[in-house]
Amino acid sequence: MRIAPSILSADFAALGEAIARVEAAGADQLHVDVMDGHFVPNLTIGPPVIESIRKRLPLDVHLMIEEPERWVETYVKAGADYLTIHVEACAHLERALSLIREAGAKSGVALNPSTAPEVLEYVLDDLDLVLVMSVNPGFGGQSFIPTAYEKIRRLRALLGSRNVLVSVDGGVKVENAGPLARAGATVLVAGSSVFGAPDPGAAVAALRSASEVAKSA
Ligand code: DX5
Ligand code: ZN
Repeated sequence: MRIAPSILSADFAALGEAIARVEAAGADQLHVDVMDGHFVPNLTIGPPVIESIRKRLPLDVHLMIEEPERWVETYVKAGADYLTIHVEACAHLERALSLIREAGAKSGVALNPSTAPEVLEYVLDDLDLVLVMSVNPGFGGQSFIPTAYEKIRRLRALLGSRNVLVSVDGGVKVENAGPLARAGATVLVAGSSVFGAPDPGAAVAALRSASEVAKSA
């Protein structure tokens, strides 16, 4: 299981320090939420912030923006190791995924809670990561929507033996880390349950052990 703290819930005035704490606690990658105020009703950060935090943990950049294909090169150049676009925001998904790989990053697709996993049937070989949204994107700190469990199981069946990460994003906490691992998730994205905790490093460790205990049970 990979643990990916989402910096959306970190203190942006002390971002370097927040990242150092989860890095020291063994986080595997950092999840970076980019919002455009159109695809989702919120605005966050863009390429300059990504550039300034690169060269530390691998960056898992989640684009919640319209026409993401126009921005692929910019975000890969800024430092995205994984670049994830929303299927709902992109009319030409196969082309956009090829652009991501050609630009030198791993390709990801995110699915809103209402989107069926079968929409990916004809791009399965173009994917390195699928991000199952377990909240409607736009804000941290929302409640987990439990239909994500069945979606992860269906996605796993669709993916077969392909080497694709299955990530889950939204409302992830110690309580659902185990069931998510059993359903087939391989990346846990967690914002408020890590950076809202008194000790973010301990929160990373708790997520990891909850998911590993569940898998070996
Ligand atoms: C929401 C973002 C998430 C967010 C998750 O649109 O995609 O990555 O940071 O926050 P929590 O873990 O607080 O639900
Ligand atoms: Zn996200």
